[in-house]
Amino acid sequence: MDEVSGIALVNAMYPPEMIGQIMGTDPQPVLDAYARQCPMHERAPGWYTVTRMQECVEINRHRGVAGNGSTRGMGGDEKLIPLDIDGEMHTHFRKLIDPVFAPKRIAPLAERIAAQAGTLIDQFVANGETELFSSFCQPLPSLIFLSILGLPADELPFFLEIKEGILRHDPLADPDEVDRQQEVARLQCSTYFGKLYDERTASGDLGDDLLGWLIGSSVDGHQLTREQFLNIMLLMIVGGLDTVSASLSCIMSWLARHPEQRRWILEDPNRWPAAIEELLRFESPVPQGFRQAQEGVEINGSQYPAGTYFIMSWPAINLDPETFVNPLEVDLQRSPNAHVVFASGWHRCLGSHLARLELRVAMEEFHKRIPEYAVKPGTELQYVPLGVRQVMNLPIEWSA
Ligand code: HEM
Repeated sequence: MDEVSGIALVNAMYPPEMIGQIMGTDPQPVLDAYARQCPMHERAPGWYTVTRMQECVEINRHRGVAGNGSTRGMGGDEKLIPLDIDGEMHTHFRKLIDPVFAPKRIAPLAERIAAQAGTLIDQFVANGETELFSSFCQPLPSLIFLSILGLPADELPFFLEIKEGILRHDPLADPDEVDRQQEVARLQCSTYFGKLYDERTASGDLGDDLLGWLIGSSVDGHQLTREQFLNIMLLMIVGGLDTVSASLSCIMSWLARHPEQRRWILEDPNRWPAAIEELLRFESPVPQGFRQAQEGVEINGSQYPAGTYFIMSWPAINLDPETFVNPLEVDLQRSPNAHVVFASGWHRCLGSHLARLELRVAMEEFHKRIPEYAVKPGTELQYVPLGVRQVMNLPIEWSA
């Protein structure tokens, strides 16, 4: 199959004139109008934007459809593990890594997350104001993730630079320049983890932490290679550092702008889990995923030849009126709420349990200390619409 650069695919997803319209606080009606015009919109010959749950679920579970591996993803020719691989090898790798992020393994982290949230809040609570993205949404999940990996907290700026280099680009930027920046970031990441790998394997002491465990693991009877280790770490850094921060920023921004609904949740903190699920559905921070038919496939009764690209618009699928009653309304008690914020099928997010725990504990701790707050008057909130949707800056205030 021909390889297509990630940025070309991103640009292919929506008409360019729509990108400006989805950078504000309320992209949902624009996405909805686009999606309902035509549920399997052929953006270019052989490239379909998927906006309905039925097709989404079938594509994500079809053995004849490959995941992102058919595209040239986050800046390189190597296939990221497990995101860019498929079939049996994908299953082997998921069996290796899934248990590390299983609910039981993740649950004990709640205390650590609460303590870290408390430390961050201590730094600004007396001021009566803060720029919440940089003071809370970004550092909290990133520091937790570095601690899970056993990496020092003071290396946070270095890892943030790497994930920004890979993910954050002007959607209309020159694709060659984006490729170059991504390559620099990938190289920085593999140099760091390559040194760590070499030191640990040379000393014979792999380390009593997650990284040591991973270096020493085997897949399908074969010891993990250096390349495979570096590759997994790159995806971990991008997934672990970015997505929860971005989701946290979208959720906090919505709550800051909807005080009545926020007060309703705070009357009973048991309302947080359902409320978070609904705000995840509504905001859908990850804007797209890619799939490619490896053979002729039938999806929802229609035939698609080998080579067809499916551009999965998770945010539009999460507004599908056949799956969600009144999808353009936020219903904080919505049940069932079978959204695809974490995708579905073979490539379903393996960090979803960690993400949910971090979001819930962050919400509880923040609102215990600062229940009443609002976006600073005069602020026009701007969102990054592609890469992962996040609020670029979120200045809020409260009475200290
Ligand atoms: C709210 C936060 C998160 C959201 C919204 C999210 C969303 C997603 C989505 C939509 C996918 C599917 C991508 C595709 O198939 O195109 C995915 C896959 C993945 N996510 Fe997450 N994610 C989040 C948090 C995390 C965290 C904390 C980690 C770190 C452990 C993580 C690691 C991964 C990995 C490794 C995959 C690839 C799975 C595979 O291909 O088998 N994610 N995520």
